[in-house]
Amino acid sequence: MIKAHHLTGIFIFRYRFSHTEAHRFNLLFQEETKMMDEKLVYLNGSFVPESEAKVSVLDYGFNAGDGVYDVTRTFGHRPFKLREHTQRLYRSLTYTRIECGLLIDEMEKATLELLDRNKHLLGENDDFAMWQVVSRGVRPSSGKRLSGSATVAIYCLTINFREFARYYVEGAMLVVPSTRRIPPQCLESKAKITNKMNHIIATFEAKQVDPNCIPLMLDIDGNISESNAHNFFLVLNGTICTPIKKNVLGGITRETISSIAGELGIEVVEGEFTPYDVYSAEEAFLASTSPSIVPVKSLNGVGIGKEIPGPITLRLIEAWNKLVKVDIVRQALSHLDGQEREQFFKVWEKRQAA
Ligand SMILES: Cc1ncc(COP(=O)(O)O)c(C=O)c1O
Repeated sequence: MIKAHHLTGIFIFRYRFSHTEAHRFNLLFQEETKMMDEKLVYLNGSFVPESEAKVSVLDYGFNAGDGVYDVTRTFGHRPFKLREHTQRLYRSLTYTRIECGLLIDEMEKATLELLDRNKHLLGENDDFAMWQVVSRGVRPSSGKRLSGSATVAIYCLTINFREFARYYVEGAMLVVPSTRRIPPQCLESKAKITNKMNHIIATFEAKQVDPNCIPLMLDIDGNISESNAHNFFLVLNGTICTPIKKNVLGGITRETISSIAGELGIEVVEGEFTPYDVYSAEEAFLASTSPSIVPVKSLNGVGIGKEIPGPITLRLIEAWNKLVKVDIVRQALSHLDGQEREQFFKVWEKRQAA
């Protein structure tokens, strides 16, 4: 009997294979399956399987953290604020004098195409964090430094919801590390630079206090700036407060929260705040692309507010869900294991109903 399979656009007829033919067919089939199961990465103009996306050891990004990046996420497999993230990437490129060789529209188009090519790998409750990374490129082994073309990579990470799911119900514990946020006089905080050592050391300090702790970094004057990967908000007398722009990354989530709060009629003010202000705040929360809004439980062991999330944080989460058309808390909790997941769902439903 002859059976036809459609593979890579070619019809392969089943008949008695010779040993060599069978081996070749096997390789082709394995290659095809790998292509379907493996995420693709955009690297310098081509879409290649993740395992084959290689960057030189002479790359400035590897040797000096000489690069910039941005991260957009999908909600329900749809990109969110991609243009705003890509614009921020281009502002970081301008600041660092890196010529990426792509127009902003081309970068956006490549990001969307990559999403299209990888989307079939997402489970129903999954979403991607889409990284756009540009380094200054490969150092010539001889000759002029800082010449050559940039390395441009875009890749999709499946969001690890388990990492932050519990925070929606239990709240995050923050700790002020001794490492201060690099002041903008030394390196512009608004630029998203691949060298994250400042934030990484702060994270180690916090995790050594408790593996579940997140660092809340102070600026050089002792005012709160941001965490390793989130902007920070506190609620004082019903007003949402957040550190001034000068010492923080201009977060896209931060900006979106301010506009949601405006629509809800809640005032947002920027100012200088110290841990003292947070200890007596009614609520506090973090804001970042993947988890969106993270309720905070304590700072340096001092409990904040009466419930998790506080009433204003809860209103913001509900408005956020409407905006992105995904229930972010249910999505994250659905990634926890059986009994724990059911327990957290119950607590969350109770909190929503209260
Ligand atoms: C240092 C820092 N601050 C704030 C943020 C939040 O920015 P966004 O809301 O654009 O993700 C991030 C995001 O990774 C970050 O790395």
